[in-house]
Amino acid sequence: MTFAEAEKMLASCGQEHVLEYWKNLSKSERAVLLEQISTIDPKSIKACRAALGKSVSQVDTSKGKAPKVAVLKGAALKRAIAAGEKELSSGRVAALLVAGGQGSRLGYDGPKGCYSIGPVTGAPLFYFHARKILARSIRYGAAIPFYVMTSEANNADTVRCFEENDYFGLDPENVFFFTQGMWPGMTEDGRIILDKIGHIFMSPDGHGGLLAALKRSGALDDMKKRGIKSVFFFQVDNPLVEIADPAFIGHHILEKSEYSLKLCAKRDPFEKVGMPMLVGDRYRMVEYTEMTEEQCLRKKNGKLYYLYGSPAIHVFDRDFLAREAAKAMPLHLAYKKISYVKDGKVVKPDSPNGYKFEKFIFDVLPNAKRAAFLAFDQKDEFSPVKNAEGSDSPETCRADMQDKWRRQLAEGGIIVPPSLPIEIDPVYALDKADILRTGLVLEADML
Ligand code: UD1
Repeated sequence: MTFAEAEKMLASCGQEHVLEYWKNLSKSERAVLLEQISTIDPKSIKACRAALGKSVSQVDTSKGKAPKVAVLKGAALKRAIAAGEKELSSGRVAALLVAGGQGSRLGYDGPKGCYSIGPVTGAPLFYFHARKILARSIRYGAAIPFYVMTSEANNADTVRCFEENDYFGLDPENVFFFTQGMWPGMTEDGRIILDKIGHIFMSPDGHGGLLAALKRSGALDDMKKRGIKSVFFFQVDNPLVEIADPAFIGHHILEKSEYSLKLCAKRDPFEKVGMPMLVGDRYRMVEYTEMTEEQCLRKKNGKLYYLYGSPAIHVFDRDFLAREAAKAMPLHLAYKKISYVKDGKVVKPDSPNGYKFEKFIFDVLPNAKRAAFLAFDQKDEFSPVKNAEGSDSPETCRADMQDKWRRQLAEGGIIVPPSLPIEIDPVYALDKADILRTGLVLEADML
């Protein structure tokens, strides 16, 4: 982008001040600023300005009903597994990981996926995800292409982590990295914030940025070329997730759903998870930050109004993703302390002074022609690493990973005492069925 093009684009959305310090910039600083400006779409700037001061939930959810959630057992479970297995063996399933977040609550300075979580080996979160995908693809004799969304801030480190670990055994041909967009921060009156002289404050556009990024990067085309139909979506922080679980995929297929969600009973009424609701004739996800205290509480009979929360484990129909990628998404605002330039000097504010904008992938839920909800047991599949300590921390996650393996081994008659650290490579044994194989039993007998 040239200076003249930048000037014209900024003028078209009332942001001329971004070039205020142009004359003071070195050649390389100018190049960086032009590069930043070139990523800004004037339409997005107008959308951000329009969103300022408005609540994202324009829809009144106070009368939202809890969704009907399937609990699969017996013959229904077998049917779903068979349908999912057919999909997996036919190579029509992809895995999609959102790993562009900044992990600020964890206080880890790097991509969260590189965070060491293996209770014995210290293997990173990415290891468990990749090895599960590999194990599943070996079992069903068909590749499960792995699409990994990163952000500008962590893309290079993420790719390096995969390269240094030989892609954890996956064929690099089947791993597709793509980077989400960045959006500029804004003051309350809709001016883009410069956090340094000649430098725009930008932050990742939220995991909803996934749709635009899938399209822009060619990942959607790649999925189509490979004949992918169902896309299993998950978050980087949960190593317990059963990636490409055949029962879930099968349920999605049998229900002819466009967007399916796994749900688990909330551990406490105020657990920080999103809650799907039926509002009018549409399902919507209501984020924990948008729930009123009353909505979180129990009814007179002691039951929660909304028992089920979302661990962000979804299956999408590829065509649905392609359809939604062509549309604009609602914007969620976060009011933050953002350094800014005043009279040629950088000021660090003591209180929030500007907005970051994010899109959330689950905002496409109301657009799904059909949606399905499947219950699962939280202790088997959901233990995220969010905080440095306390609940949802590395400590609770490692304990939950080991408890799961211990429970599975116990079913094979092997009791591993809690004092003995345990870790199982998913390629060696993916689940209970594998764990009960003789080889593993013999090794465990030697403990
Ligand atoms: C999220 C969900 C919440 C769900 C919970 C389950 C949101 C807004 N809320 O909450 O409904 O119940 O997880 O654990 O997502 N990410 C990106 N790019 C971004 C921002 C985030 O890729 O710009 C990724 C992160 O890397 C992570 C995931 O999205 O994998 C979730 O982000 P996080 O900020 O941890 O969400 P939560 O607030 O914990």
